[in-house]
Amino acid sequence: MKSKSGKRIGIFGFGCVGQGLHDVLQENPHLDVARICVRDQEKLRTLPKHHFTYDAQELLQDESIDLYAELISDPKEALLIVRQALRAGKTIVSANKKMISENLTELVALQEEFGGTLLYEAAVCGSIPILRTLEAYYGNEPLLEVSGILNGSSNYILTKLDAEGISYNEALAQAQALGFAEADPTLDVGGYDTLHKISLIAAHAFGAVVKPEQVLRAGIQHISRKDVALAQALGGRIRLVATAKLNQNNKLELQVLPTLVFPDSELYHVEAEFNGVQLEARYAGDQFLKGRGAGSHPTGSAVWADVSAALAGYKYSYPKFRHNEEGELRPVPVEEDDELKIYVRSTMPEFLPQLPWRELTVFGEGKREIQLVGTIRRKDLLLHLSALKQTIAFIAQLPAHVSAEQVVAASCIALEEAA
Ligand SMILES: NC(=O)c1ccc[n+]([C@@H]2O[C@H](COP(=O)([O-])OP(=O)(O)OC[C@H]3O[C@@H](n4cnc5c(N)ncnc54)[C@H](OP(=O)(O)O)[C@@H]3O)[C@@H](O)[C@H]2O)c1
Repeated sequence: MKSKSGKRIGIFGFGCVGQGLHDVLQENPHLDVARICVRDQEKLRTLPKHHFTYDAQELLQDESIDLYAELISDPKEALLIVRQALRAGKTIVSANKKMISENLTELVALQEEFGGTLLYEAAVCGSIPILRTLEAYYGNEPLLEVSGILNGSSNYILTKLDAEGISYNEALAQAQALGFAEADPTLDVGGYDTLHKISLIAAHAFGAVVKPEQVLRAGIQHISRKDVALAQALGGRIRLVATAKLNQNNKLELQVLPTLVFPDSELYHVEAEFNGVQLEARYAGDQFLKGRGAGSHPTGSAVWADVSAALAGYKYSYPKFRHNEEGELRPVPVEEDDELKIYVRSTMPEFLPQLPWRELTVFGEGKREIQLVGTIRRKDLLLHLSALKQTIAFIAQLPAHVSAEQVVAASCIALEEAA
């Protein structure tokens, strides 16, 4: 049976997201699905074999296909597919945040040169329509800050640690069993996935093409019950928060850091696998979007929304990009000189005090572990971060109003309660 629109879509990938999109398209038959390109010829599938191809070129060279959805888990192959489609002036939607964030300049240029379209709402916060909101609604209004919880796996783990007092490894195992975390969870818990997403947000919200090394990034993999209890004793919770903030010097502050949040923050109330994004706009003020950041149908829904928009002729306009007279993209300056207040717990007591702290309070000192609250310049933290991570450190940002004395007092309370 022919679909309503008579248009044909070629799908790459039939995993979590590809199947989600396929389900949505079956229930809403606006499009005909051409073959689906996958990799493994032996895998058992929920559809008969004749629906599949194992050769990407069979789809890419099929002139009867009107648009593509690239939903594979291999970023290198995904880039080749997207490049080829854009060079042919085609329309393609993708969910691959790593591939897009690492190649954004090239992918924008290809669209300009060959007239094709690339949309990727599903790559950032699954079902939350954040990119379209930034593009279409806040295209002209200056934004001051976009920050949020952008990774469902990490948030699920942090929620379980907080609510059930279980260990990090137990929480990770639960997240894996429920399909919220990959077998190799490094991209999620190490903050890389969040970094890819905040980079895409920074492009649409601030016109910035961000290099990964410009972003302060730490993950949650070394969090312990001690850190969770300390946050609770302070009346807060730890969440993995990504921030892109234009400060008073018109420079971008960029970070992905475990962060202490309090009940007056919307992010405190984002639980389990949910994502939440808060926006601060110059005239509109504060806005908050919350929803499912991953999963088969929520992400399939976002891909479908892109497919529908693309068929209606929608393209990203990157309204915040600024160009010089030669047409080159003007970089947005990134802040390096501001100070951050951070909490660190590390297993290498001798190393930590050697960093160039502006202020430093050390507590919980033992032979094998040290805790501290310190103020440090962003530039210095960026420089020493990889060495710091090698000390098996858990690092969290503290709001400026939380004093070192409060943290030390809370750590005593947490210790008493644990005893
Ligand atoms: N899962 C989510 O909730 C979510 C949310 C937002 C964005 N995303 C993004 O969406 C994309 C897909 O994720 P997923 O969770 O659906 O992955 P997945 O469940 O692991 O499925 C990946 C699919 O890609 C296919 N594939 C991998 N390499 C291929 C290649 N070289 N050529 C052809 N097909 C290939 C696999 O084929 P086989 O079936 O033959 O193995 C499989 O069908 C990723 O970029 C991911 O980051 C995922």
